[in-house]
Amino acid sequence: MKSSKHMSNAKAGVIPQHVAIIMDGNGRWAKARFLPRTAGHAQGVKTVRKVIESCVRSGVRYLTLFAFSSENWQRPQEEVGVLMDLFVQALEKEVKKLNEQGVRLRVIGERSRFSTKLIERIEQAERVTQHNDRLHLTIAASYGGRWDIVQAMHALLQARPDLAQSVQDLTEADIAQHLSMAWAPDPDLFIRTGGEQRVSNFLIWQQAYSELYFTDRFWPEFDENDFQAALAWYQNRERRFGKISEQLTKLEPKEPTAC
Ligand code: FPP
Repeated sequence: MKSSKHMSNAKAGVIPQHVAIIMDGNGRWAKARFLPRTAGHAQGVKTVRKVIESCVRSGVRYLTLFAFSSENWQRPQEEVGVLMDLFVQALEKEVKKLNEQGVRLRVIGERSRFSTKLIERIEQAERVTQHNDRLHLTIAASYGGRWDIVQAMHALLQARPDLAQSVQDLTEADIAQHLSMAWAPDPDLFIRTGGEQRVSNFLIWQQAYSELYFTDRFWPEFDENDFQAALAWYQNRERRFGKISEQLTKLEPKEPTAC
């Protein structure tokens, strides 16, 4: 009953344009089943596939998934190796289907740390899907929000060395246009599975006005009903962007103002 209610609510209302997800709880899901942590990651890849399908069906235009943080390099070498292998395998297996579904794939993060093989697969997947526009799927891997801001500042100062002499001219827009997701709208809905309630250095600039949704469900068990529940929750949020309720005429995102 509860899930079907969520499904009809979600379909009737405003669909977030951009959903960003921290896919947490793979290790705990596996541990609860006396499986190695890496089995949780393998199962997590299946959830990725299902959530992509859900986004295509629901009309979400941008889906950004946090697959591997800058800090995750510190995990045991074996686990890092399995995650990298899963990444290569997923790219090899899924790109054709993603392309058929009209999904454009991009990867953001410090990709110079990846193996040559993985970099080649990423470049190929980005090339093959580059003309698609139905769903923009971004995988954040070897990514950190602070890294993103620093790399944006490097790129900005390289493009505009004059700014170093006139720092008062520096604007938010200058920085934003050099962030790794400069081509996408900011996330409307942020979802974190696995019970933790923190943002963990994911898209920290872009999430300034995102609605934050936390669920105890572990990523490998996160399903269509859970996704629809998050959409339904989002539809009941009033997005004010620093204004007051009476100033809002419609639900579409507007330019953020200081709060
Ligand atoms: C967090 O769970 C999850 C990760 C660090 C990896 C996420 C990766 C995948 C879902 C698979 C690969 C993805 C793609 C796009 C091919 P955790 O291990 O921190 O879980 P825990 O908190 O229970 O230990």
